[in-house]
Amino acid sequence: MTRLPSRQQTWNADTYDNHARFVSDMAGAVVDWLDPKPTEMILDLGCGDGDLTAQLVKVGAQVTGVDASKDLLEAAKKLGLDVHLMDGEALEFENQFDAVFTNAALHWMTNSGAVIEGVHRALKSGGRFVGEFGGHGNVAAIVTAMRAVGERRGGDVALAGPWFFPSPAVYAQMLEENGFEVKRIGLFPRPTPLKTGMKEWLKLFRKPFFEQFSDQSDAVLEEVEALLAPSLKDAQGYWTADYVRLRFEATKQ
Ligand code: BEZ
Repeated sequence: MTRLPSRQQTWNADTYDNHARFVSDMAGAVVDWLDPKPTEMILDLGCGDGDLTAQLVKVGAQVTGVDASKDLLEAAKKLGLDVHLMDGEALEFENQFDAVFTNAALHWMTNSGAVIEGVHRALKSGGRFVGEFGGHGNVAAIVTAMRAVGERRGGDVALAGPWFFPSPAVYAQMLEENGFEVKRIGLFPRPTPLKTGMKEWLKLFRKPFFEQFSDQSDAVLEEVEALLAPSLKDAQGYWTADYVRLRFEATKQ
């Protein structure tokens, strides 16, 4: 029996470290918005390999991390962090945390209503939900290039962009409808240099899209890269991804 490639994104801690370290390196602003205090109980939602979780621990906060990737959690455990395998759309905490923090994770959780409900349950009254993730227009050029090549080759173009990238108005409304008061929210373009190039980004973050083309996947990768080069590759050959961040702070009512 031929095994079909998985449509689910999977992670490998070493590959992530090599090609996506910028994810935590560029998170300074959202950590500033969180403004973690010593002794606070903080949940890091989508903690990944724990790079930012460890920064919060350094401040003196008591931090619990959760993530859906076993492989990334193994890396976090090696840092001595308190981390657990848990689905962000089914959080299992109640009235426990002073703050829930999240960076570059919410766009992977497409049942966003369930996430917000779980965060609301996990927080103490007055607790804050502070985060950053892909906002409206995030990686738009990259998704459009994949869709164009996918369509030409008769592939499933839905696999080109499975993420949740809301506008501030849409996300603010969701937060408010679920018992939060929005303190601040905004969309920030954040061009992101890709030190190891566009192909590595595509292979790391959109594996299911390319795997659907089996032995043609390398050719598809070449075509997507060629379409993107005029807009995202500079004259010295360096790639920049068209990231747009949605950053917010809300408190539990
Ligand atoms: C992001 O952080 O915006 C992102 C990362 C991977 C895929 C899509 C978006």
